[in-house]
Amino acid sequence: MTAPLFILNGPNLNLLGTRQPEIYGAQTLADIEKICRETAKTVGLDVYFMQTNHEGELVDVIQRARTDACGVVINPAAYSHTSVAVLDALLACDLPIVEVHLSNIHKRDDFRRRSFVSQAADAVICGCGAYGYELAVRAVSRLIAARQG
Ligand code: DQA
Repeated sequence: MTAPLFILNGPNLNLLGTRQPEIYGAQTLADIEKICRETAKTVGLDVYFMQTNHEGELVDVIQRARTDACGVVINPAAYSHTSVAVLDALLACDLPIVEVHLSNIHKRDDFRRRSFVSQAADAVICGCGAYGYELAVRAVSRLIAARQG
């Protein structure tokens, strides 16, 4: 059986739906999980979906992905802009990685314009809201298929 696709979400994304909806949209993380599961099903992938507010926990789960995942979709949220530890964990993963952001991080505060994580990502999707997760699942499935030849 193929390993699942890990879909990882960083701090404060548990508040989606009520957190700055004018920026992040009205959909909750549960809505996004549903979108991801439905999309993954259409491309034949199982999903492990999680959210954490803790950097070390994110590092731990990325380390687990090295052996237990077929690919990674990650919205590292604020850790995108601050965490060398999350970047290093992803660099240690020999897996297709797609970074996703709900908002267009290039259209916001200066400090959001740089994502450390992008250095480890095969693709970056931002500014498409929850739909970006669907795009990310589709993109990572193509990258996984391309590796399998
Ligand atoms: C975010 C963008 C980040 O700058 C922010 O810290 C988040 C969410 C997004 O999905 O647009 O928490 O990753």
